[in-house]
Amino acid sequence: MLDEKMEKALNEQINAEIYSAYLYLSMSAYFESVNLKGFANWMRIQVMEEQTHAKKFYDYVIDRGGRVLLSEIKAPPTEWDSPLAAFEAVLEHERLVTSLINGLVDLAVELRDHATNSFLKWFIDEQVEEEASADEIIQSLKLNENNPGGLFMIDKDLAQRTFLPPQDVTI
Ligand code: FEO
Repeated sequence: MLDEKMEKALNEQINAEIYSAYLYLSMSAYFESVNLKGFANWMRIQVMEEQTHAKKFYDYVIDRGGRVLLSEIKAPPTEWDSPLAAFEAVLEHERLVTSLINGLVDLAVELRDHATNSFLKWFIDEQVEEEASADEIIQSLKLNENNPGGLFMIDKDLAQRTFLPPQDVTI
């Protein structure tokens, strides 16, 4: 059985992951509006990743005999000044999510909840990847800041991203 404090914190994380999906869907809409279809595709895949994260937490709360309680999702921003500004916002958001996951681990350790601590390890590793992939795109955008041809090439590259659902989540 989950400790009440842990159950509440995991429910808050479901909200944070669904907000992440909502934020990236808003970014996808922004990229569609400036005709950068590859960037829009990258964001659409990111939406699916975030929905998977939310479902992992959802399934875990239920597996531990807890109660999932969904709450209001705040509205995301809708405009960014440039593709670079949008990806800088991605990195900033992912750093925030990393700090939330670290907070969950701290709570699991404090409560001696070894099962939750073990469950969270996947997310610790995932956040390293999430921050690295945002940073990689930021670096490419900075290198091509004054080069429209470079932006076109990055867009073509991001159009290739596909979604690979993890084996342990029902989509
Ligand atoms: Fe669910 Fe992008 O972290």
